Amino acid sequence: MKALAFFPLLFLLLLAPSAYGEQRFSTATEECLGCHATINPGIVSAWKKSRHAAVTPAEAFKVEGLDRKISSGDIGDEMKNVVVGCAECHTLDPKSHADNFEHNGHDVHVVVSPKDCAACHAVEAGQYQKNLMAQAHPNLTSNAVYQFLIDSVNALPAVKATPPAPAHKRDLTEAESCLYCHGTKLTVTGTTSRETELGSMDFPVIAGWPNQGVGRINPDGSKGSCSACHSRHEFSMETARKPYTCKECHSGPDVPAAKVYDASKHGNIFYSDNKHWDFQKTKWTVGQDFTAPTCAACHISLLVNTEGKVIANRTHEMKERLPWRLFGLVYAHPHPREADTTVIRNKDGLPLPTNFGGEVAEKFLLTADERTAARKRMQSVCLACHAQSWVDGHWERFLNTIESTNTSTLAATQIMGDVWARGLATNHAKGGNPFDESIERQWTDVWLLWANTVRLASAMGGGGDYGVFADGRYNLRKAVQAMKEWAESRQDAKAKAKPGSRK
Ligand code: HEC
Ligand code: HEC
Ligand code: HEC
Ligand code: HEC
Ligand code: HEC
Ligand code: HEC
Ligand code: HEC
Ligand code: HEC
Repeated sequence: MKALAFFPLLFLLLLAPSAYGEQRFSTATEECLGCHATINPGIVSAWKKSRHAAVTPAEAFKVEGLDRKISSGDIGDEMKNVVVGCAECHTLDPKSHADNFEHNGHDVHVVVSPKDCAACHAVEAGQYQKNLMAQAHPNLTSNAVYQFLIDSVNALPAVKATPPAPAHKRDLTEAESCLYCHGTKLTVTGTTSRETELGSMDFPVIAGWPNQGVGRINPDGSKGSCSACHSRHEFSMETARKPYTCKECHSGPDVPAAKVYDASKHGNIFYSDNKHWDFQKTKWTVGQDFTAPTCAACHISLLVNTEGKVIANRTHEMKERLPWRLFGLVYAHPHPREADTTVIRNKDGLPLPTNFGGEVAEKFLLTADERTAARKRMQSVCLACHAQSWVDGHWERFLNTIESTNTSTLAATQIMGDVWARGLATNHAKGGNPFDESIERQWTDVWLLWANTVRLASAMGGGGDYGVFADGRYNLRKAVQAMKEWAESRQDAKAKAKPGSRK
């Protein structure tokens, strides 16, 4: 009897994650752990908590249907029966990684890219390549108009009798400014020898490192960083599903989704109740595992109802649920069809989805039918918790807000057009930067800060403070009025230049 009573306890002990995992490391991973457990205990402990350290691909394949977490059809036999350890990620496909280096008998690379993750998570990696995010680096840096915007923020003001800073310094600024979120380009520039606790070793020197921007260009040529949302080395689903993850990049007044969420009814319920929610379930059951949506629930997650029926499929290509692009360039517009926005040309030949008169570059954007399909996918999420009339009422206000904020931007842009025509500021057509002078900065505030804030508040909060006094309509209206009065109070540049022409 006694022996039988002990049996379940023994069984549980054998199954405890550490004992369970440790027997199944590859020999290479065992060697990494041998040194790194003392050199980087933080890395090794985090990894030990991850599912990667506990479940082998062979076991993951045994899980049927939507609960299966790995999506690649075939992964090499040598990887199937060991847990996913240091070597399984950091020594994959060594030839393709420019940052690969000989390291204590192994060909190791520092940057584990989306292409590496794709060895086991091909579906997520494939979808992510079609997400605007994966293209965020070239979308920003290869667009001549956006280059002006970058300069208007990052170029240093001239200082008398001081030579300009070397280009290299500008790269350092860029890496922690725009490219913190949009992603740097990682380039191997050489090798360095370092004295370590375990003797001298050689390491690659990687310009642009460290960085986890969503559109990072990796040394193997792939685009993006899965660790933007899946922090290493836990790679936890729970972290990705919580709004804090997204808040890191979606907070500024140009993109205040997280602020809007924090102040919304949904955010309110999340903060009050999330300690009772289950963030681990692979299929996320609405109403049971959570009671109000997080960013992930509306934009990414695989949602099911209590009978297990799918409400929304998981997607790493977020535009599947986005009919509109709310971010003003300079107007909100139907969502671009391709993730690469550098191919877009508006009616004036500029790489922008709208021209300054407000006409959209139709050919490159979703059609009305495609928008309907994307809206339905988003609304099927809402309808899991709301009635149709609630959702329809919300959407009508949201469309009205897109229209009304675009009208305010048009008014501001007409004033700006007049200012440029009168020579009171110099835009790109005359060899200037359209975003750098004082009046141009006021105009930029209109579409980049206030109109965006009002639209995000409408889409994700149903309005409220961020739609009105907190960077909302109040600021929007004030900025347009200030531009108008500025323009009216100024004399034309030409008139000013001619002495005696003053009335
Ligand atoms: C003989 C001990 C030893 C072994 C075995 C070992 N490492 Fe290291 N590794 C080190 C030391 C020491 C450093 C440098 C730490 C420092 O910067 O002071 C290092 C650095 C690294 C770096 C960071 C390079 C950089 O500076 O950007 C990575 C990545 C890495 N190791 C991965 C691995 C992987 C993966 C394995 C197994 C395939 C492994 N290591 C095996 C000792 C070892
Ligand atoms: C699932 C894949 C995966 C596994 C398993 C993994 N890593 Fe990493 N590792 C990454 C990613 C991703 C990064 C961050 C690079 C990036 O941002 O893309 C990283 C970064 C690192 C770095 C640089 C971190 C820094 O802050 O300087 C070291 C060192 C490292 N890993 C060592 C290890 C060791 C040791 C193990 C085993 C305990 C391990 N890794 C297991 C994917 C992995
Ligand atoms: C060699 C195969 C392999 C590679 C490479 C790999 N993974 Fe995994 N991944 C797995 C396995 C196995 C699991 C656990 C499956 C299970 O629990 O059923 C997993 C689980 C996950 C999960 C779910 C975690 C959770 O809490 O549910 C995430 C997220 C994830 N991996 C992201 C990544 C990222 C990002 C990379 C690249 C940096 C990566 N994986 C590389 C095999 C791999
Ligand atoms: C804190 C993170 C963060 C930083 C820093 C950042 N951005 Fe962004 N940027 C975003 C996010 C998030 C979006 C997408 C917003 C959306 O879809 O509503 C975005 C989108 C854009 C777009 C639209 C690109 C397109 O065509 O799809 C431009 C242009 C842009 N940012 C310019 C800049 C410039 C210029 C800088 C630096 C001066 C910068 N950003 C810094 C987060 C950031
Ligand atoms: C490391 C920074 C970063 C993190 C973290 C981040 N994003 Fe983004 N996100 C961006 C940038 C930059 C863009 C804009 C890319 C562009 O326009 O080229 C973007 C774009 C988007 C878009 C617009 C996509 C489209 O097709 O219009 C959505 C939606 C989005 N992010 C949601 C999220 C959610 C949800 C999370 C958290 C689970 C998140 N983001 C985490 C930086 C980030
Ligand atoms: C913008 C944030 C973001 C980025 C970047 C991102 N993911 Fe995810 N990922 C999520 C969220 C949120 C979830 C949870 C989805 C859910 O609730 O169904 C998730 C879930 C996953 C899962 C779990 C799937 C399962 O069945 O359990 C895997 C695997 C995964 N992502 C892989 C990747 C890979 C590989 C990349 C890079 C190519 C990547 N992700 C980039 C946000 C992101
Ligand atoms: C209740 C569901 C819901 C929640 C929760 C939610 N969103 Fe959204 N989100 C939407 C809707 C609806 C839109 C507008 C759809 C469209 O653009 O057509 C949107 C649009 C966006 C956009 C696109 C803006 C653009 O320029 O096109 C980004 C980025 C975004 N959300 C990020 C986030 C982040 C980050 C969070 C969490 C802090 C979040 N969302 C929470 C429903 C939600
Ligand atoms: C997981 C359930 C859930 C999902 C999914 C969901 N909501 Fe909600 N939503 C709620 C709950 C609960 C409330 C609070 C209602 C109350 O307190 O009366 C709420 C409140 C709101 C409010 C606040 C209204 C106000 O005046 O305070 C708006 C707007 C809203 N939801 C819109 C949406 C939209 C649009 C979607 C889809 C894009 C959506 N919701 C998806 C659960 C959800």
